[in-house]
Amino acid sequence: MQTETPKTIFLKDYEPTPQAIRHVRLLVDLHPTATRIVSDMQVEPRKSAPMVLHGEGLELLSVTIDGVDLADHRYSHKNDLLTIAEVPSQSFTLRIEQRCNPQANTALSGLYLTSGVYCTQMEAQGFRRFAFFHDRPDVMATYDVRIEASLAVPVLLSNGNHVRSGKIVGTDRHFAEWHDPHPKPSYLFALVAGDLAAVLDTFTTMSGRKVALGIYVEKGKEDRCGWAMESLKTSMSWDETAFGREYDLDVFNIVAVSDFNMGAMENKGLNVFNDKYILARPDTATDTDHVNIERIIAHEYFHNWTGNRITCRDWFQLCLKEGLTVFRDQEFTSDIRSRPVKRIEDVRTLRARQYPEDQGPLAHPVRPASYIEINNFYTPTVYEKGAELCRMMQTLIGKPAFRKAMDLYFDRHDGEAATVEDFVRCMADASGRDFAQFFRWYEQAGTPVVEVKTRYDAKTHVFELTLAQSTPPTPGQADKLPQHMPLALGLVGPDGSDLPLHLDGVGALNTPLIELTEATQVFRFTDVAKRPVLSLNRGFSAPVIIKGEARDDDHLFLMGHDSDGFNRWEAAQSLARDLFVKAARALGDGKPLPDAKPFAQALGRTLADPDADMAFKALMLELPSEAEVAAALRTDVNSDHVRNGRMAIRAAIARDLLPALDGAMASTRETTDYTPDTQSTGRRSLRYSALALIAAADANRGLALATVELAKPHSMTAEIGALSAVLSNGDAAPLLEQFLQRHREDHLLVDKWFMMAAHVPLPGAATRVEALLQHPLFTWTTPNRVYALIGGLSGNLAGFHAEDGAGYRVVADAIVRLNSINPQVASRMATGFRSWRQFDTARKAHAESQMRRVLATPNLSPDVFEIITRTLA
Ligand code: PHE
Ligand code: ZN
Repeated sequence: MQTETPKTIFLKDYEPTPQAIRHVRLLVDLHPTATRIVSDMQVEPRKSAPMVLHGEGLELLSVTIDGVDLADHRYSHKNDLLTIAEVPSQSFTLRIEQRCNPQANTALSGLYLTSGVYCTQMEAQGFRRFAFFHDRPDVMATYDVRIEASLAVPVLLSNGNHVRSGKIVGTDRHFAEWHDPHPKPSYLFALVAGDLAAVLDTFTTMSGRKVALGIYVEKGKEDRCGWAMESLKTSMSWDETAFGREYDLDVFNIVAVSDFNMGAMENKGLNVFNDKYILARPDTATDTDHVNIERIIAHEYFHNWTGNRITCRDWFQLCLKEGLTVFRDQEFTSDIRSRPVKRIEDVRTLRARQYPEDQGPLAHPVRPASYIEINNFYTPTVYEKGAELCRMMQTLIGKPAFRKAMDLYFDRHDGEAATVEDFVRCMADASGRDFAQFFRWYEQAGTPVVEVKTRYDAKTHVFELTLAQSTPPTPGQADKLPQHMPLALGLVGPDGSDLPLHLDGVGALNTPLIELTEATQVFRFTDVAKRPVLSLNRGFSAPVIIKGEARDDDHLFLMGHDSDGFNRWEAAQSLARDLFVKAARALGDGKPLPDAKPFAQALGRTLADPDADMAFKALMLELPSEAEVAAALRTDVNSDHVRNGRMAIRAAIARDLLPALDGAMASTRETTDYTPDTQSTGRRSLRYSALALIAAADANRGLALATVELAKPHSMTAEIGALSAVLSNGDAAPLLEQFLQRHREDHLLVDKWFMMAAHVPLPGAATRVEALLQHPLFTWTTPNRVYALIGGLSGNLAGFHAEDGAGYRVVADAIVRLNSINPQVASRMATGFRSWRQFDTARKAHAESQMRRVLATPNLSPDVFEIITRTLA
């Protein structure tokens, strides 16, 4: 049991530190089990107060002020804090000598060893596991770093520009020195040292400065860095054109490591990446991998301005850097690939990851007001919903004003630790608009629901649109105020073209956009000659749930005719979701399944549309997930009915589409070598979506086609595409086994194999996963492997929410085990329980008892404690 309840931290308690730290000189003497760190800090007192520094699991060796050793009684070291009771009132140098143990660090926060490589991860609070410090983002300093290590560790990297390196005479050790001229918070500090291979290149910035680029990887993997390097150069030039932002150091280095809790990290001038987001070759990485690499390289690079040059005042402001940087990387991908496809994919991600969070016990505002463990707030809400808020502001003021606001933001706050208020003030000042009501989006949790009523008067030609908004209660927030929502819309005439929009009291609308600000608001459109079909929230202009009165035939009509590609897709999604929901209910009630014919026919028309591109067709074939169906059912969900109902409807649709699907297969054969360009990835996504549906309609044919694809695969995309298509076929097991035998030397492909194995949608998933925990290739200490197998199980809806509780038990066992190895990974796995209350009584009882068992674990980390208590509350 938890000995004491972990402390909650509140936004309202923010106060600057009594001392600023302006400069840090570090000597890091690397050793696997005892690394010695000497830090010299230039301290500037702001007021007279004790100096209280963070430090976790460190061995304190000495404390010196201005060259004078402090006697023991002048400081105390307990509860992860070092308190120096009295410090000088004028600027002084504080020197602290400390030791840490990188080898014992399985939490992967602070300085750790991964496959013989020393690596740091300081965000959010890892620096304190490396050196005593004011470890918070509003304490910004310049850094000089000297790394010393054995000659067996040849590459020594840190932030900023390289100063010099050399041998340490008379020893088998050497050193390197780095200088970072840009003041930064401790969370952006990084150090990497190891026997790594380097792939080098250069980039010339818009003002003509030459930047040395380096990607450091495990030796032998040099041939898998080309795509990442190309993506980096594309990102650097995009930020120049799109936002006028130039790179600001002589070097930009990236290191790929195989043990990493998250995707990647934006340390100043020295990004560290989970190697799955660097390494790619046509035969080892899928199209999705390529696009993700491009996107994450861009994301981390863009942080150089949004995050590093302007950082966060405190961790409550996390969305200031993350939401904004996700928005920037979304715009990047939209510009260099397909904007409509990107928008649909982002909304899919939002619905699959953020909506369940926002509609469950873990709901929190984009800017939370309190937390126990900040690592639990790197969430889809902060990232993806945070990006939606930036997008809505851009929609409200228009692209030119948004760019002006961004320029103002960089102008005003460069070199500062800023707040969300600072950012939104720039939006207001640059546009002259009032964002007071809009700010609620940052403070109110929950997904708003907009209820739509329409009335058309054929005599007066008036189309009346009544919108009522509400946001359901979320933990700690019972009552919600109306939000300010930009809603793009169109009135679609019988021939499929958009009718002109005349808003009563306003006139002709230049932009087809209305702003909903009241709880209920009526919009009257005049001169509407014929009864139109409403297309609302085009391009998903506001991250809300639209509850319409639209009939199936309106949806079928929009699916074929809406000029907004997003809403064509959306219409198809809501029709399919409806069918799946009805099918799940029908299975529960022993009634016949709904008729999917009209939908299948409409989908057939889309497939036949010569104007629609292949990527769009593929997205139309990707029907809503089981999780979405469960969310739509809301309560008393039986996950078997969800799965079986969905599978049955999908098979029926696929049978109707078989000739069209065969046609799609025939028209997407590979004729050239692999390239990850937009056209080719679109073509392949259509190919494997079609194959998956063929397999749903006819298991044997699907298996035969997949076997052909796998005999001499064109690319990794083909291998994964073909295998994923037939996972539900019990006879496909040998193909999975063949994949493992082919790729068992490649750890990233072994991860893919574990993930596919966990996703197999056949009964008994929990038992199979439990057996795989004993597989010689499974390990608990590599986050990617745990995410693949345990995360794979919680992503398998009917497997995780199995009626006998076996899924919950296996995941709970894993959480308990991971708690003592890596609390961040453990708590991520604990979020798998977030939707447990949607399920039926038997399932809920199993889930609850497993969570209570986790809660009773001795030495439970604050990370897991916080997630489980909030989930149970
Ligand atoms: N700041 C990283 C990003 O989103 C994420 C991250 C957070 C990585 C914490 C590691 C630790 O770009
Ligand atoms: Zn980020």
